[in-house]
Amino acid sequence: MRVLGINAIFHDPAAALVVDGRIVAAAEEERFSRRKHGKRPVPFSAWEQPVLSARWCLEQAGLRPGDLDLVGFSYDPSLVRPAEAMGLNDPWDHLRIMYAEQAPSLLADALPGLDPAKVRFVPHHVAHAASALLGREGSVLVCDGRGERASHLSGRHSPDGLEILASQELPHSLGLMYEDLTQHLGFLRSSDEYKVMAMASYGKPRHLDLLREAVRATEDGGFVTGTIDWERLAPARAPHEQWTQEHADLAASVQRRLEEVLLDLTRWIHERTGDRTLMIAGGTGLNCVANTVLSEQGPFEHVWVQPAAGDAGTALGAAVHLARTGPLEFAPDLGREFGDAEIEEALRTARVPYERPPDVAEAVAETLADDGIVAWFQGRAEYGPRALGHRSLLAHPGRKANLERLNNVKGREQFRPVAPMVLADRAAEIFTRGPLPSPYMLFVHDVTSAWQDRIPAVVHVDGTARVQTVDPAAEPLVARMLTAFERRTGLPVVVNTSLNTAGRPMVDSPRDALECFGSTPVDLLAIGPFAVRRPS
Ligand SMILES: [Fe+2]
Repeated sequence: MRVLGINAIFHDPAAALVVDGRIVAAAEEERFSRRKHGKRPVPFSAWEQPVLSARWCLEQAGLRPGDLDLVGFSYDPSLVRPAEAMGLNDPWDHLRIMYAEQAPSLLADALPGLDPAKVRFVPHHVAHAASALLGREGSVLVCDGRGERASHLSGRHSPDGLEILASQELPHSLGLMYEDLTQHLGFLRSSDEYKVMAMASYGKPRHLDLLREAVRATEDGGFVTGTIDWERLAPARAPHEQWTQEHADLAASVQRRLEEVLLDLTRWIHERTGDRTLMIAGGTGLNCVANTVLSEQGPFEHVWVQPAAGDAGTALGAAVHLARTGPLEFAPDLGREFGDAEIEEALRTARVPYERPPDVAEAVAETLADDGIVAWFQGRAEYGPRALGHRSLLAHPGRKANLERLNNVKGREQFRPVAPMVLADRAAEIFTRGPLPSPYMLFVHDVTSAWQDRIPAVVHVDGTARVQTVDPAAEPLVARMLTAFERRTGLPVVVNTSLNTAGRPMVDSPRDALECFGSTPVDLLAIGPFAVRRPS
């Protein structure tokens, strides 16, 4: 059974391929097109298909479009109602529906040989749910801005399939509420929500009473999001204006209310399913502060979040849903990989001096211990927005100034934190509160007081850190680098942030890596087994 999954309708277009119960490949279109988030989520762009990532997925399996048994498209236009009927103010929404209806022929045009009759529409939230469940039994919570006519799904997956327990219809949407706030605070909606989450750490939730009236869970497992007069709570901020305490307090209030309502939703699910494990997907699942609250205070013993929780993940979910497999093996390194010969060819073409050290992990640890910044390009690219040790920028966590230094390298705001990667067996002595192990950076943890001064670069203003634990069995090269760094410094922790600069997608190919290295003050590019050093 060969099933291609496609996400194309809002943002983060992506493709994924499942063949005979195995996830062969999955990647966001932005990594190929070099356009952040692939496109803006407006109705006018809904016709664009993730052509480059879809072709690459097929190549990975040596398949032609005509070899596919099914194609899952993660949006079902037959479920949509007119925008006014859904309470949305979008006079062009009908264009999105029209383009979705044409998706089979648009895909057949982009992938010659594909039979358009093989394309199936998979409801958006069912696709999100399948991306989190991956064929496993358990409860699932999906929460995002919007799908066809809903913004949420609570359900349970058993061998009989997915049972939908609750679904909240638009216009009520926790995701759209957070997007509205993102825009009000001067950031790019459907893109910069994580900046609001970071800003919330600087504020006090002093508008909580008002928000508790406007935004609340209902007895049927859904919720209400009433109209919020943002201007009354904090003045709108222009994109390049300095933010104030008022902005941070508003961010903190909405963040806290989001956490409270999500907790109510999870309690409602647990009362009905009694499951031990909750799987999460949908853009709200990228809110790692809320995830920790759910894990710590919620009724489920285990909370698992799909690393590609945003819409990109629905490409994988649509394929998984149609393939109807048993539990799938999953690791997020599902993107492009380049062989040593290809990498060396790119280095020769760029005419940069390079070497092949006996062990690239040791060479990197040495540079990091000397307080150099390293661009780390190894193995397959990550599926989802987090750098998990395959396309990363690394630095010494013991120097507080490295936070500012990395934010300058990336050209991004100084209030943004950078995250630590840590050897899995050392994590519990340094980080508390959030669940461990935490291999995908989807939860925040408290840094113990004994360690706050030892790794100041990765401690956020509220004493937390968004940790990636590294298991040597899953990530042997990264673990070797961390061990080599610890041998030199006594610290089993390295700063890890995504390998890109502000507004650009993550580096994907060797050429992208060289472009990034050439334009930023990075000291060492560790690319495959090779090392490229900046002349001092
Ligand atoms: Fe979504």
